[in-house]
Amino acid sequence: MTAPAMVAEFDDVAGWTAEAVETLGERHAIPAACRGSANPAALAWLAEACELTPGTRLLDVGAGAGGPAAWAAGRFGVRPILLEPMPAACRAAARLFGLPVITADGTRIPLRAGSADAAWCLGVLDTVRDKAALLGEIRRVLAPGASLGLLVVVARGRRVRAAPEGNHFPTQRELAALLDAAGLDLVEQIDRPAGTPLAWTRRAERVAAVVAARHRGDRAYALAADQGERLSRLLASGQVSMQLVHAVSRPLRRAPIT
Ligand SMILES: C[S@@+](CC[C@H](N)C(=O)[O-])C[C@H]1O[C@@H](n2cnc3c(N)ncnc32)[C@H](O)[C@@H]1O
Repeated sequence: MTAPAMVAEFDDVAGWTAEAVETLGERHAIPAACRGSANPAALAWLAEACELTPGTRLLDVGAGAGGPAAWAAGRFGVRPILLEPMPAACRAAARLFGLPVITADGTRIPLRAGSADAAWCLGVLDTVRDKAALLGEIRRVLAPGASLGLLVVVARGRRVRAAPEGNHFPTQRELAALLDAAGLDLVEQIDRPAGTPLAWTRRAERVAAVVAARHRGDRAYALAADQGERLSRLLASGQVSMQLVHAVSRPLRRAPIT
């Protein structure tokens, strides 16, 4: 069962965000709907690493309210397919960006094997207990040799104190082993670039202020805020760091003919 704090963070807040964007105007939509901590520099790195081009079928697993996929469609001309288990987040992505959204869990992706040219999975792996199943499914739906872009929060040591509810951060060694076991070759990994432009941050903050003004009294708001504060504290203390990863789907080996 999903922890109430995660439902608050990923579902309630996504719905409230879409309503606030509708009040403030659509230029607020992408910054406010990038809820996995991706900034323009991070998204550009992932897009270049994955060699996104016009027409690329990009599957965004755990797409949330759709900000990263909409950014990739606008800047790189990709054809995104969003997959997200939280119903209000799915509705938010459809309302804000008109993108196709599948309401489903990333550990059971209802798509054909090899049907995606590339995949993104941003800020999701840490929130999923069965990380092997999630990565295995992503690998299954990727075409052989296709790229996966990840944003992952990685733990420095094995014990992380006061993690956000439902989050389990892999160590670097665990992350590398998970990718390898799923048949994904790690090509490159960097710290998430800093330097979010003020123009982007301000738009996201304006939306957050409207959400706060409308929902500060809600229990879900307090739960979601606590999740965010816990992650900020872990990042500030250096217990965890945000990483961008480019991996490629290892082509399946043919069984030898005997
Ligand atoms: C931190 S948010 C990031 C959202 C989006 N990727 C972004 O960058 O804006 C994590 C997302 O992962 C989704 N998620 C959690 N468990 C999942 C699962 N088993 N399969 C797919 N998505 C999942 C959550 O519902 C949430 O929308």
